[in-house]
Amino acid sequence: MALLHTPTALVYAVLLLLSSTLVASIQYCHTGADFCFAATQQHNTSSDSHDVYLTISATPSRNGGWIGVGFGREMKGSLMFIIYEDRESRSLITSVRSASGHVMPKVLEDVEDQVSVLQATVSDNKYLAEFICYSCWSPDVEVKGLSPYIFAGNREQSFHSADKYSSLMYHEFKGKVWGNMTVDTEDTTENSAPSIQGDEIIGIASDSPDSPKKPKGFFTPVRVHGTIMTISFMGLYFAGSVAIRSPVVRAFKYHWMIQAGASVLALGNGLYMFLRSTHFGPHKIIGLTILCSLIIQAAAGYKHHIDFVKIRRQTIFTLVHRWLGRGILLFGTMNVGVGMYYRKWSTLGLFTWFVIWCIEIAGYGYVLLQHQRRQSQQRGHAIPKEDLEEIADAEVFDIGGDLDDDEDGVEDSVHPHTLFLT
Ligand code: HEM
Ligand code: HEM
Ligand SMILES: *[C@@H]1O[C@H](CO)[C@@H](O)[C@H](O)[C@H]1NC(C)=O
Ligand SMILES: *[C@@H]1O[C@H](CO)[C@@H](O)[C@H](O)[C@H]1NC(C)=O
Repeated sequence: MALLHTPTALVYAVLLLLSSTLVASIQYCHTGADFCFAATQQHNTSSDSHDVYLTISATPSRNGGWIGVGFGREMKGSLMFIIYEDRESRSLITSVRSASGHVMPKVLEDVEDQVSVLQATVSDNKYLAEFICYSCWSPDVEVKGLSPYIFAGNREQSFHSADKYSSLMYHEFKGKVWGNMTVDTEDTTENSAPSIQGDEIIGIASDSPDSPKKPKGFFTPVRVHGTIMTISFMGLYFAGSVAIRSPVVRAFKYHWMIQAGASVLALGNGLYMFLRSTHFGPHKIIGLTILCSLIIQAAAGYKHHIDFVKIRRQTIFTLVHRWLGRGILLFGTMNVGVGMYYRKWSTLGLFTWFVIWCIEIAGYGYVLLQHQRRQSQQRGHAIPKEDLEEIADAEVFDIGGDLDDDEDGVEDSVHPHTLFLT
């Protein structure tokens, strides 16, 4: 600067000022988050395509945080420009990423040809980054003349010894806006990133052009899934497992009918969800394991029953069925809570689920305890088990009709009939 004459510097300053106002661009500011981005689309004559110039500015929080802007209508498939500060070197990291769905976006390798970073600075407590993305825009991305942009950020995360691969915490805020890219035709020779103009909102449509196309009612696939799985695991399996241990006549019939119904619901709905999914987290891994166990569980239950009718004794299938069943009950109900957690339920919602879960576990424990008590009471009568079963058998035949209901129950639960007999 010292080399320039003052008038020359002045002319440069005026030119710079002019040039920054000459390029019309879209701009969006998220006031609560103190962050803005601006974009222009410019025709590149040598490649005969449209380059996008993107500027992101943000006022960092005490921790720094991350901010991202993406080209696209949703996380999946969007080209994302993410910035965060390395706290040690006080430098701004730029990370160009894309995501396969609602998961942490992955760094795109070898994008140097497509994206160049014009600037990335931390100054005066302001982050400023400028990008050029070559051939990043075409009229095809538009919906009714508007181009989709997404943005998101987390102001709590602080980055130490960060690089472009640093892992990001879930966003605290996110959104989608539509830009009218046809407004910036005034100065196509100006090959520079747009500057941020105050906290104005420029060229952003107030209504989403595709909202009427996608009427997202209350019954989204995920809500239906959650409802069915809650009914199945917190309701039906629980009821069916309690049934086999309660002193009711038709315990066995109730048990297998309820469990079979719940399994049809869970398997059908679970398979549908896995066919839709693109990535696997803990919720889906637990879910898939449970679905596989359900098949083993039903087979073991059936085998136990067939064997028991013949030989009147517990087999290995009894043990498998009993303990796998308890496992399914425990992890299945737990996975309802895990699913709610990933769907960002409120603390109150999660707490309510937890209370119900505790009540169910305790209630099940109580039913098992009562069942054991009845069993030992019965032993107190000093009738050998085999005899008892013979008596019961005879009695069952006398009554008739309830054969199926009784035979399994008799082996360790006292039925009104048998009590009456002894
Ligand atoms: C840290 C890794 C990230 C994770 C784990 C993540 C996860 C998620 C999840 C679970 C949702 C669905 C929320 C709901 O339906 O209520 C979502 C939505 C969204 N996220 Fe992310 N996200 C991450 C990073 C990003 C980044 C870097 C951006 C933008 C640059 C972004 C932008 C959005 C937007 C715009 C939505 C709403 C639209 C949509 O459903 O795709 N996310 N994200
Ligand atoms: C697939 C879903 C099923 C689940 C989650 C399930 C769950 C359970 C549980 C937890 C118990 C043990 C109760 C306890 O002592 O804690 C049990 C016992 C039993 N289940 Fe199932 N069950 C299922 C299907 C079936 C089917 C389809 C049948 C019959 C065809 C069956 C027959 C039995 C019998 C006979 C017992 C008593 C076993 C014993 O003497 O301990 N179950 N079941
Ligand atoms: C046009 O695009 C090419 C790459 O596609 C790039 O190297 C060149 O700098 C662009 N021209 C201008 C004026 O930005
Ligand atoms: C975009 O802006 C141009 C010029 O201001 C206007 O004529 C056009 O209607 C706008 N398009 C949409 C979809 O709002």
